[in-house]
Amino acid sequence: MTNNDALVGKKIVLGVTGSIAAYKSADLVRRLGDAGAELRVVMTKGACEFITPLTLQTLSGHPVAIELLDADQESAMGHIKLARWADWILIAPASADTIARLAQGRADDLLTSLCLASESPLVIAPAMNNKMWENQATQENLAQLQARGVQLLGPASGDQACGEQGAGRLLEPTDIVAGLSKLVVPAKLRGKRVMITAGPTYEPIDPVRFIGNRSSGKMGFAMAAAAVEAGADVVLIAGPVHLMTPHGVRRINVETAQQMNDAVIDNVHTCDIFVGCAAVADFQLETVAENKIKKTKHEKLHLDLIPTLDIVSAVASLPDKPFVVGFAAETEQVADYAQDKLNTKGLDMIAANQVGANMGFAVDNNALQVFWPQGTQAFPLTAKTQLARDLMTLIIERYNAKDST
Ligand code: C5P
Repeated sequence: MTNNDALVGKKIVLGVTGSIAAYKSADLVRRLGDAGAELRVVMTKGACEFITPLTLQTLSGHPVAIELLDADQESAMGHIKLARWADWILIAPASADTIARLAQGRADDLLTSLCLASESPLVIAPAMNNKMWENQATQENLAQLQARGVQLLGPASGDQACGEQGAGRLLEPTDIVAGLSKLVVPAKLRGKRVMITAGPTYEPIDPVRFIGNRSSGKMGFAMAAAAVEAGADVVLIAGPVHLMTPHGVRRINVETAQQMNDAVIDNVHTCDIFVGCAAVADFQLETVAENKIKKTKHEKLHLDLIPTLDIVSAVASLPDKPFVVGFAAETEQVADYAQDKLNTKGLDMIAANQVGANMGFAVDNNALQVFWPQGTQAFPLTAKTQLARDLMTLIIERYNAKDST
């Protein structure tokens, strides 16, 4: 998939740290600007030993921020404001020292404070001597950062400034721009409305008990954040989960399948894209007991269940239906069942994943196989936050392709 204009209008803080590769940052600033990004450069003191702030200020067209406690800079755009401003933070080159300080969660200079204060995704392009790169300390720091969702671009292998050979070279600026473009959701849903359902539903048995499932809501919430990143106006219909509402999302909390259905139907009419991520219960009690059902030692308890409404199918059969994306969580024959659901539910696209022991539900990583009437695409195991961005990028592509036919 080409993602050439993914960076158009994206607000990027570029962190430059102390490495000989900092000289490449000048080219990187130019290329990020050419790709349409809005840039603010933050340098560590170490970086200033290799390249002057004036160079990056001239190329970026904005003052370069260096000091954490600089009254002038704080009044222009303080670190908290910068942290909120950024859609993405890219650190290139990222030195071994900066990686270590990020891993520790330190806030001893402007760049690390900014990273700690920001909810924006962080991407690092390391650059260091190959022995420093291979050192267990560096590798452990990186593993920690990656476990927290930090993404890595590079490093490359080859001749190093120190005369050695091996891994640790900063990727070329063109490769960094291409790598970042692949991660970002292009802002192509401005003026569009996206509705997403997320989480489980709870179907009450009596006033204290319910039938539920193991859905964490993480994928749906990540999809909502990705839709905001695409510039959409986002409504999230959330089942009972304890997750923070992504910035810029309008959230409606529901508990049962019936409530989720009602909230969707009340709000879906002006939607352009509907994504049914929720693990909606398939059955609800025919009659909910008014009082707590008393347990009896020897008698079996029979519960009469009736099917719930199929929300995604109901949306897909509306006369002015939006572009409808469903999910299929299966324990076996994933592709067959998913394609069957694509057809029977009348969907434009379905994202299938294998669920079971430590897979799919309540974990942070996932893999998907996506189907639409003319094609399919596999997304390998990755963090749900990035998987959601990749899926949203594909949805935008298919939505635009359908709209133009
Ligand atoms: O039929 P199944 O539950 O496997 O289908 C999963 C897809 O259908 C998901 O997109 C889910 O959100 C949606 N669904 C729904 N309403 C239901 C059951 C499933 O919208 N009652």
